[in-house]
Amino acid sequence: MMRVGIIGAGVIGTVHARLIDSLADRAKLAAVVDLDQEKAAALADRYGATAYTELADALADPEVTAYSVCVPSGLHPEVAAQVINAGKSVLVEKPLAITMDGADQVAEAAQEAGVTVGVVSQRRFQPAARCIRSAIDDGLLGRLTSAVVESPLWRSQEYYESGDWRGTLTLDGGGALMNQGIHALDLMIWLMGRPVCVSAHSGCIAHTDIEVEDVVGATITFESGAIGVFLATTAANPGLPIRLAFHGDGGVIVMDDERITQFTTTVTDSPPTPPSSEAAESIDAAHRAQYADFLQAIGDHREPFVTVADGRLSLQVVLAIYESARTGRPVELPAGK
Ligand SMILES: NC(=O)c1ccc[n+]([C@@H]2O[C@H](COP(=O)([O-])OP(=O)(O)OC[C@H]3O[C@@H](n4cnc5c(N)ncnc54)[C@H](O)[C@@H]3O)[C@@H](O)[C@H]2O)c1
Repeated sequence: MMRVGIIGAGVIGTVHARLIDSLADRAKLAAVVDLDQEKAAALADRYGATAYTELADALADPEVTAYSVCVPSGLHPEVAAQVINAGKSVLVEKPLAITMDGADQVAEAAQEAGVTVGVVSQRRFQPAARCIRSAIDDGLLGRLTSAVVESPLWRSQEYYESGDWRGTLTLDGGGALMNQGIHALDLMIWLMGRPVCVSAHSGCIAHTDIEVEDVVGATITFESGAIGVFLATTAANPGLPIRLAFHGDGGVIVMDDERITQFTTTVTDSPPTPPSSEAAESIDAAHRAQYADFLQAIGDHREPFVTVADGRLSLQVVLAIYESARTGRPVELPAGK
């Protein structure tokens, strides 16, 4: 039984506590850290864990071997590095960081400490996303030519006012893309391959008193030559499904939220059946699957399914999109790293 802890007892920290509790055959929530004593105590009490307001105190307990980092995004690197430097494994919520220096701080700490470090991107664990990955890997779409990926969500003004850090450049690091759209962008990168050039526009249209965008559109050229069109917004009231459509010269496949809604291939007469709508798993189930993979990776001394390098690449593309939107010029991405 692995004893694990959570740093940040807010919205997603509470979800992590529930996920850990649902994996009771493998893990036990033993520590909850939050600067806010009441929040730490409330969550810790619910699961019989110890509450801390000082991370250093929590890290002194040798029985706790891994932590989830669920603090505001801009704090991920320093908090994750502190956990890693204490010789403990860490699952960092998305985004890994909001600057490349931050991402590198985590990568360097992980390399030196030799502990397991993962980055949350739970949508990679959805059966529909896995189905698309298999269809692409098995050549059922032929040669990938293009993709259209949309994250048309709604976040109210009250949402941005619900936390001091939301919608700020220093702690959120960005808006509809850095916070929400990164889920769909990460899937797009996982499925289409490495981006080499982006061209983008962004704006803040429907919200006030935030420092970040609520609409961003980008075209992305991938290493293969395929072209992607990407849109993320938090200004589409009341929101539409996150939709990913992949097109090849041998087939097309479309995912709406957690379901495959279209799959046609001309490559074979007997294509595999995509997961049924009933088999579609909620985003919560995918998050649980990622947590289970993280625990398994620690036990097996292997890399988790979503690595620091994966989180770093997604961040690099997010930042390239922002740079292009800011400068009005296409931004090339370095190859390989
Ligand atoms: N994977 C997902 O689907 C998903 C969903 C929501 C949020 N997130 C990510 O989770 C992170 C947190 O988001 P949230 O919505 O839970 O925020 P939140 O504001 O609800 O919670 C953050 C908590 O961190 C605490 N905190 C701040 N600084 C701290 C520190 N130095 N040490 C300890 N505690 C500290 C705050 O008191 C607060 O309780 C963000 O990075 C966000 O992007 C991921």
